[in-house]
Amino acid sequence: TQPLRVALAGLGTVGAGVVKLLDANRDLIERRAGRGIEIVAVSARDRAKDRGVDIARFAWEDDTARLADRSDADVVVELVGGSDGPALALARATLAGGKSLVTANKAMMAHHGLELAQAAETAGAALKFEAAVAGGVPVIKGLRDGAAANRIDRVYGILNGTCNFILTKMEAEGRDFADVLAEAQALGFAEADASFDIDGVDAAHKLSILASLSFGTGPAFGDVATGGIRHVLAADIAEAAALGFKVRLVGVAEAGPHGLFQRVHAHLVPVDHPLAHVSGALNAVVAEGNFVGRLLFQGAGAGDGPTASAVVADLIDIARGEFGPPYAMPAASLSAPNAADSGDR
Ligand code: NDP
Ligand code: HSE
Repeated sequence: TQPLRVALAGLGTVGAGVVKLLDANRDLIERRAGRGIEIVAVSARDRAKDRGVDIARFAWEDDTARLADRSDADVVVELVGGSDGPALALARATLAGGKSLVTANKAMMAHHGLELAQAAETAGAALKFEAAVAGGVPVIKGLRDGAAANRIDRVYGILNGTCNFILTKMEAEGRDFADVLAEAQALGFAEADASFDIDGVDAAHKLSILASLSFGTGPAFGDVATGGIRHVLAADIAEAAALGFKVRLVGVAEAGPHGLFQRVHAHLVPVDHPLAHVSGALNAVVAEGNFVGRLLFQGAGAGDGPTASAVVADLIDIARGEFGPPYAMPAASLSAPNAADSGDR
């Protein structure tokens, strides 16, 4: 059987992680996928940068968008980041050319996910984005497949590893915000622009994707009421602890009588609630289904290994021929944003 041939855009924290994972677990991935998964070409900004992985064995493209045109690749993996710009140009060109796309880019999916899903359907290609929400935690698969028989009434959780890392370090060590942020950045958890993390924007991107999967709407990022943790002081955390609460950045999406309600804010979480026990760069998502009840998905929400794990899981699905609809239902049937009360839940 021919291997699945991959063109990889972006060789930063996640991209280099994908190269390492495919090398380390080559044999077991081949057995589970039913064929090999091989990178054939890569692209980033700086060809000479040391990335801790050998990239000399792959073809190099200076122009990232050209990866979409390569006749020796079956699938493009986009790990550049940014809602528009080179990531979106590559995603559009990939799907327009009939190739499948795997991405970890929640900003792009939150802003352009519906368009890309429709392009994938038109092309008969796969669009996979497991790594875009909660890093290594298979929550997209869990909602789309595992909970497919349920009406989801509410989905909420801790969706940003950087913020959770900062809050739990401040809590445990009484340290200052800026000092802990620098540590999260050094560990590769933070976005290129860390204000996306600490102002709640990254969590809002992810929440809008979860809501679209749960409620059958297009992602409506603009409707998410968003706040962050910039203003939280170590003294606030200590005060909350004295009252029996932890401070966590939580995103909540629920369907109500007036449509879909989505918000991301710092919350006081009772110490006996499962979200209070989520520490470091972990994420947790709770989904409430009308037959299954409450599901809890938890694990590493950021970092090279966990995120690469989700990206490669998507590649394994594609290698097996398991494309699935990009969302819980075909994109063509998704209702407009905020139509959660339309009966299409
Ligand atoms: P990095 O900043 O570490 O890496 C980005 C990569 O993209 C780099 O290799 C960079 O090239 C390349 N790049 C940037 N701009 C361009 C451009 N204009 N043209 C070509 N290449 C470019 O990001 P991450 O690996 O952390 O994140 C990648 C994606 O994964 C983002 O969408 C992010 O939101 C998402 N993600 C990240 C997680 C994490 O824990 N880090 C977790 C889940 C998702 P060069 O190296 O040469 O500078
Ligand atoms: N910056 C993101 C976070 C990466 O901290 O959660 C994972 O999506």
